[in-house]
Amino acid sequence: MKKIAIVAAGSMLFALSSAAVASDGESIYKSGTGPTCASCHDRGTAGAPRINEPGDWDGIDLDADALVESTMSGEGAMPAYEGRADRDDILAAVKYMLSTIE
Ligand code: HEC
Repeated sequence: MKKIAIVAAGSMLFALSSAAVASDGESIYKSGTGPTCASCHDRGTAGAPRINEPGDWDGIDLDADALVESTMSGEGAMPAYEGRADRDDILAAVKYMLSTIE
């Protein structure tokens, strides 16, 4: 009886932690593959469009897939993340960024 309860608690913890890793765009933005998105996009370093500043995104196509493309291949002063970061993680980070300017 006791053993079953422990196994159940263990798998619940596992389910919780893997969901957090897969879908938490904000934590990827802040502490994912470096240099972190936050290091430039919080304050507009190197001319990066800032989060929470819709005006910075004027003239940028806000299609999430297109933005993932440019992030993976790099754009201007932004380094390419291709081969260093998971595409799904970049998508989650981009979606988080978009959610701050909607
Ligand atoms: C070294 C600074 C730097 C880092 C780190 C950085 N960016 Fe950027 N990012 C930029 C700059 C600068 C631009 C503007 C590029 C331009 O238009 O010349 C930009 C543009 C973008 C754009 C708009 C692209 C477009 O099509 O116009 C997106 C989306 C973006 N970054 C997402 C991210 C994400 C997600 C991360 C983290 C995985 C990240 N950036 C990390 C500097 C950075």
